[in-house]
Amino acid sequence: MITVPLLDLGPQNRSLESQYEKAFKEVLHSNAFIMGPRLEAFEKSCAEFLGVKHALGVSSGTDALLLALMALGIKQGDEVLLPAFTFFATAGSVVRLGAEPVWVDVDPHTFNIDLADAARKVGPKTKAMMPVHLFGQSCDLQALRTFAEAHRLFLIEDAAQSMGARWQGQSTMSAGHFGATSFFPSKNLGGFGDSGLVTANDDALAEQAKILRVHGMQPKYYHRFVGANFRMDLLQAALLHLKLPHLPTYNCARAGNAKFYHETLLNQPGVALNQPGADAQAKILLPVDFSKQGIWNQFTLRVLHGQRDALKAFLTQRKIGCEVYYPVPLHRQECFKGVGRGSEQAKVAEQLAAEVLSIPIFPELSEAQRQWVATSLQDFAAGRPA
Ligand SMILES: Cc1ncc(COP(=O)(O)O)c(C=O)c1O
Repeated sequence: MITVPLLDLGPQNRSLESQYEKAFKEVLHSNAFIMGPRLEAFEKSCAEFLGVKHALGVSSGTDALLLALMALGIKQGDEVLLPAFTFFATAGSVVRLGAEPVWVDVDPHTFNIDLADAARKVGPKTKAMMPVHLFGQSCDLQALRTFAEAHRLFLIEDAAQSMGARWQGQSTMSAGHFGATSFFPSKNLGGFGDSGLVTANDDALAEQAKILRVHGMQPKYYHRFVGANFRMDLLQAALLHLKLPHLPTYNCARAGNAKFYHETLLNQPGVALNQPGADAQAKILLPVDFSKQGIWNQFTLRVLHGQRDALKAFLTQRKIGCEVYYPVPLHRQECFKGVGRGSEQAKVAEQLAAEVLSIPIFPELSEAQRQWVATSLQDFAAGRPA
């Protein structure tokens, strides 16, 4: 039996090992570890890659979100629209500032924020919206901008899972007042520890974020604002700078794996695409790349008829890594009991939490590995034993 991990960082990192070692030594010998030209060079390359005016390296994706909210002056009493189905940090950053999340339901096909529900829930205290390009699938960037402008909201894109994803040619992280991404090792541009990036096109907003990144300090030891230490380590910047040019290749390989799953599985009984009008009898729904430029941070199935946990056990028995991202919608998290509003209308988020299962999609998946995953899904859909 072949083992298929959900993610294997080894092959990708080994392929550039000698370059990383050289960069590590350069940083080591420079004795400069915080800020400076090496970071600025990485930020410039990121800005060019994303088609934005400003990019700031920061300590994590979570801090990127927090910093963006702080730079926009989001505070106690303000509300922020965000999807109820996402990673914790999206809402955690809002609540840490004393602001209130408005739990917006998600679309069952894209898994992204449902703007019709957002329109129902926007209120007089709502100051910002923080959509997430979940699993690497870009939201409709034009629709986000139109919505934010119509309701006079700040737009912060949580692009932690979508570095390199585009909507009709435009990069995620370039449509809002701020974009935020993560270089957590499992992300499409995965670092060597924690770090992240904030993007902006507005000079004044970018400057404010820059000041808040270093404790609100400007000039040195003079503080007009309370910021924090949101700096990115130079070592991360140096290593990620070497990896950045390879990101399109990595994303392409992920897309190749997604294509393989589609081609291999779609004519099989019990399998359909997760799109409107999908066969209600199907057991497994495969995700669709609605932007047609997807980068597949995750390849996330919907497993219907209460069979999700059975499929998880089936794949685990066959030594295939899989994971439930995410088992609990945010408004149901214990720490958010009584926090925010809108939770009574987030039924799709609850349904997805009970149905989703992510399977291996990492770029270096071998032919044999992805075939074993596909065969196993076929076997499950056909009711064959593990
Ligand atoms: C949607 C989303 N937002 C924010 C974050 C936070 O990023 P980090 O782990 O770098 O703090 C993550 C990371 O998993 C994420 O998936």
